[in-house]
Amino acid sequence: MTQVKEMQRLIRAVRGQLQAELTLGARWLPLGRVSLAGAARPASGGRAAAPSAPAGSAARKPAVQAGAGRAPAARPAAAEIPVPHVRTSDPRVLEKQRRLEAIAQQVRQCTKCPLHQTRTNPVPGEGNPEALIVFVGEAPGADEDAQGRPFVGRAGKLLTQIIEAMGLRREDVYIANVLKSRPPNNREPSALEMAACIGYLYEQIEIIAPKMIVALGACAARALLNTPAAIGQLRGRFHELRTQPLGPALKVRATYHPAYLLRSYLPENRRRVWEDMQAVLRELGLPVPPRRKQEP
Ligand code: URA
Repeated sequence: MTQVKEMQRLIRAVRGQLQAELTLGARWLPLGRVSLAGAARPASGGRAAAPSAPAGSAARKPAVQAGAGRAPAARPAAAEIPVPHVRTSDPRVLEKQRRLEAIAQQVRQCTKCPLHQTRTNPVPGEGNPEALIVFVGEAPGADEDAQGRPFVGRAGKLLTQIIEAMGLRREDVYIANVLKSRPPNNREPSALEMAACIGYLYEQIEIIAPKMIVALGACAARALLNTPAAIGQLRGRFHELRTQPLGPALKVRATYHPAYLLRSYLPENRRRVWEDMQAVLRELGLPVPPRRKQEP
C-alpha cells in the first residue's frame, strides 16, 4: 500500500512537471488528451488536494514539434475538455451553486443586447463555486458558442494547460467571460454589449468571492479595471476591483490571452504569462511548481 502511494506521488510529481514544461514552451508537445478525472477539491474551499489517482487514462499520441513563434497547429477537439463536476454536500457551497445556476438561467434567457439573435448557445461560465481564482476571458468563440461552455476550443486547451501547470485543475477554478454571447465572426465586443453583460460577471464574482481574478487579455482587463490601457501596461502587477462601491477589493492580475499566446507563441510571451501565474500563486500562498529550464 505504501509503495502504491509512493508510486502515485511520483506519478503526480512527474505529471505536474511535464505539464509545466509543456505549457512553458518545452519543444515537444504530446497531443494526448488531458484527463481531469479523479479530482477532489476540499469542501473547505482551499486549494484542491492532489489527484488521488494518476491520470494514466490519457492515451499518449505521437508528439509533434512546436514551430518557432507558432503554437502547435493541431486543433484539439473541443470535447476533449471534460465538464468540471464539483461534488459536495456542504449546504453553503450548494447555495452558491444554486445562485450561480440562477444567473446561468438568466443568461440563457437574456435579450439585453442584439447578440442573442446570432448566438447558438449563451456561455454563462463554469467551474468551482468556491474557486480561489476566477479566470475571465473576452467572449465565447465558435467552439464555445457551439457547446455553451467557456474556453473549450484551442485557446481553452492552452488555458487548461496553464491552469494545470499552476498545480490546479479546471474544476478548482471558475472560468467566465465578459460577454456571455459570441460576437459574430469573433469581432471585438462593443462598449454597449459589455455594459449590458458585465453585471452577470460581477454577480458571479460576488457569489464565488474568489481571492484573485485573472483577466485574460486586453478586453477582460480593460472591462474589469475600467481603463483603456494596453495589456502590456496592465500585466506584471496586481490591481484592485470592487464589484460594488463599498464591496471588498479583489485582487486582479491581467495577463496575455491564450489566443494571443497561440498567435505569438514566443518564449518571452510564454515566460511573461508564467511569471504572472507564479505571482498569482505566491500571492495566494500556494506552492509554485518548479520553473522550467531555459528553452533549448
Ligand atoms: N476566448 C475567450 O475570450 N473566451 C472563451 O471562452 C474562448 C475564447
